[in-house]
Amino acid sequence: MKLFLDTANVEQVEEIAQWGVLDGVTTNPSLVAKEGNDFKETVLKMCNLVPCVSAQVTATEFEEMKEQADEYSGWHKHVVVKVPMTVEGLKTLSYCKGKGIRTNTTLVFSVNQAILAAKAGATIISPFIGRLDDIGQDGMELIAEIMTAWSYYDFETEVLVASTRHPRHIADAAQLGAHICTIPYDVFKKLPMHTLTDKGLKKFLEDWESVKK
Ligand code: E4P
Repeated sequence: MKLFLDTANVEQVEEIAQWGVLDGVTTNPSLVAKEGNDFKETVLKMCNLVPCVSAQVTATEFEEMKEQADEYSGWHKHVVVKVPMTVEGLKTLSYCKGKGIRTNTTLVFSVNQAILAAKAGATIISPFIGRLDDIGQDGMELIAEIMTAWSYYDFETEVLVASTRHPRHIADAAQLGAHICTIPYDVFKKLPMHTLTDKGLKKFLEDWESVKK
């Protein structure tokens, strides 16, 4: 399973990239607004760190979405154009597929949306599980349903588990065979942690000190 960082903060990408486990980054307009830095500059800096950086179009009509897709994909070969799951978005996915532009379909909340995006040529689809959990639904159940549907057909589209909120989401997504997880920085930092690892290492080091004496 590929691991992406869900952020528009370049320093966070630099830090996690050093671990040797980072396959990509997802940004969105809210994350970019939170950091307050230049969008293109941010995306380009990240493209120098990882092979896959999602940059979201902000237009809502096909003609303008197409123009933004052309522009962003021209910035760097690591850019993946993020397109919202709308009818205009489906047209944009199909256009990008025809031009060899990689895409990530965002705001997917149902199996039918996932199928439509895949058929339109999306490279990646992003079902948002945390936002479903937030309204009392089971986000991981959607991933299970999509992976079941995927098992019957030969969609090349990768399933990216988005809107993750805690480490258990990542472990569960892996056991469903999801292709990618995008993870917020604070959750990513929790992934290597285990109290028994800390306790065990403390004891090893204490025992080693006693041998040295
Ligand atoms: C994914 O690409 C999105 O940027 C992200 O996962 C959304 O997460 P949120 O629901 O925590 O905003």
